Amino acid sequence: MGFVIAVDGPAASGKGTIASRLAAHYGLPMLDTGLLYRAVGVRLLDAGGDLDDAAAAEVSARGLDLAELERPEVRTRAAGEAASRVAVHPGVRAALFDLQRAFAGQEGGAVLDGRDIGTVIAPEAPAKLYVTASPEVRADRRWKQLTGQGETVSFEEILADIRKRDERDGGRKDAPMAQAEDATLLDTSEMTIPLAFDAALRIVETARARWGNPKG
Ligand code: CDP
Ligand code: CDP
Repeated sequence: MGFVIAVDGPAASGKGTIASRLAAHYGLPMLDTGLLYRAVGVRLLDAGGDLDDAAAAEVSARGLDLAELERPEVRTRAAGEAASRVAVHPGVRAALFDLQRAFAGQEGGAVLDGRDIGTVIAPEAPAKLYVTASPEVRADRRWKQLTGQGETVSFEEILADIRKRDERDGGRKDAPMAQAEDATLLDTSEMTIPLAFDAALRIVETARARWGNPKG
């Protein structure tokens, strides 16, 4: 495997921001795997399907067109909720596995962010981060992001969403959100984006030195 950086963590922890800055820094391609689950959820809702219907959700995942990741609808609050509901179905996860594995297997390496990159998609990744922040900080970040996109929603509603999503994502049987044993925890609760990126870069540089010199 090339130099793969796995960035996992809960909703609105800042993992996507850190992942994209790392990708730019190292010149690596990046995949936001949450967008895959969001697009599956949006696709199913568009078809009038039920998010709890495992078979229908799997059909939606198998028919996913990557162009759908570009739709603004995948970035909404409703899409985040739909994503976490379809993500509990093992058939959906299996349908999205090969694509993520192939992305991680690119010769030159890659950056992937999600919930199960370090544990399931790329357990052998040489660099793993688990990015987190307190639920209140994450809710504040997500609230600013969504209201900035024009959604009308209160901070309390977003905090409730975040808590429910943490519970569902961490509690599901198949590939629950979890810190891999060999991942480094990065709590960004009190960090600005530049500080969080600096901390992430230090962790990844240490991993890269080890990767480049396995015996050292
Ligand atoms: O951006 P945010 O943190 O809100 O969520 P996301 O990364 O876009 O992911 C949306 C949902 O997809 C998560 O709540 C998970 O349920 C699911 N997901 C997953 O199960 N596995 C992944 N590798 C990525 C996302
Ligand atoms: O990918 P994830 O859902 O974990 O979070 P994100 O999309 O990277 O970040 C969610 C929001 O928080 C974005 O609007 C970021 O600009 C902001 N953010 C922040 O204010 N401070 C940080 N240390 C990290 C992210």
